[in-house]
Amino acid sequence: MQPEKSVIIDLRFPAEEIENALASSFPGRNIINLGDETTRGLDLSRIDYAVVWKPQADLFSRATGLKVVFSGGAGVDHILTLPGLPDLPLVRFVDRSLTTRMSEWVVMQCLMHLRQTVAYDENRASKIWKELSQPEARDVTVGIMGLGVLGQDAAEKLRHIGFHVIGWSRTPKHIAGVQTFSAGDLDVFLGQTDILVGLLPLTAETTGLFNMALFQKLRQTGALGEPVFINAGRGKSQVEKDVIIALEQGILKGVSLDVFETEPLPADSPLWSMKNVLMTPHAAAASDCKALFQHVQNQIDRFEKGFPLEHVVNRGFGY
Ligand SMILES: NC(=O)c1ccc[n+]([C@@H]2O[C@H](COP(=O)([O-])OP(=O)(O)OC[C@H]3O[C@@H](n4cnc5c(N)ncnc54)[C@H](OP(=O)(O)O)[C@@H]3O)[C@@H](O)[C@H]2O)c1
Repeated sequence: MQPEKSVIIDLRFPAEEIENALASSFPGRNIINLGDETTRGLDLSRIDYAVVWKPQADLFSRATGLKVVFSGGAGVDHILTLPGLPDLPLVRFVDRSLTTRMSEWVVMQCLMHLRQTVAYDENRASKIWKELSQPEARDVTVGIMGLGVLGQDAAEKLRHIGFHVIGWSRTPKHIAGVQTFSAGDLDVFLGQTDILVGLLPLTAETTGLFNMALFQKLRQTGALGEPVFINAGRGKSQVEKDVIIALEQGILKGVSLDVFETEPLPADSPLWSMKNVLMTPHAAAASDCKALFQHVQNQIDRFEKGFPLEHVVNRGFGY
């Protein structure tokens, strides 16, 4: 029998990273790392907490006494659809390191499009020495869809660089220096946007949201010319065939994608070789294991002292 207050770790992260982080995490607690073969037959029925990312199919039928489930990432779409997910508080991962990494990625992509990296790379390949005309960041409006933890941090950092930043979210927001729009004002928001940044969770409402109809509503006459689409939320929020057509038809000037409808991106996707496509393999903001375990420890401490858990997912809204 396992002692109470143990923690199950069921993460499809690199094994070495998990083991290294566990060596200095959860002092005084018994940890059951399901990545370790020797845990296969263990009775999990009295364990209170589980930290999961793509967990084993039978986890919830084995761990029947859980009190809290922790997501190994900021997004929870893949957990909310798990068969047998118990009706318990689900806490998502919110952490400075993850937020900072995402903002680095978003700022880098916006700057690469602003400073015409693709065009300069092409010129370089043909040994063409030619200065291109250069708008200032302040002449370009970055519109962020999703003003949560990640969207707000990215907005602040983009604003510091000099971009004009606007944002859109389900409920109204007040963010210094950022004009914000709520759900009903989507078209007004899009009509002012030159670089669209998607930092939305995947829910029923955000599935397929980034489609041709939406791309056509972006400002076509901004300082960059045609608009740019950047997505690091979830791939199923974008309709990839529409992204491809929009690029081919010049409705979009360029895109930066970290997330895809199917991951890994299939080898036959035209996105691999299209001009003006910048891509990373869902690597914009990886969860740091040590930071994840510290966050889980903090929340368990709160829970056991009778304080409310933070960052609990609202299952009705799906994020
Ligand atoms: N690519 C990566 O490496 C990576 C890493 C981490 C996270 N992510 C993705 O980034 C997402 C956002 O993370 P976060 O921590 O910023 O989440 P968050 O704090 O929960 O913020 C989500 C934002 O999206 C808005 N939103 C949700 N549904 C909406 C809808 N139907 N219409 C309009 N706005 C809507 C929310 O509006 P309200 O403010 O009104 O609630 C909120 O502003 C995650 O869910 C995950 O999918 C990706």
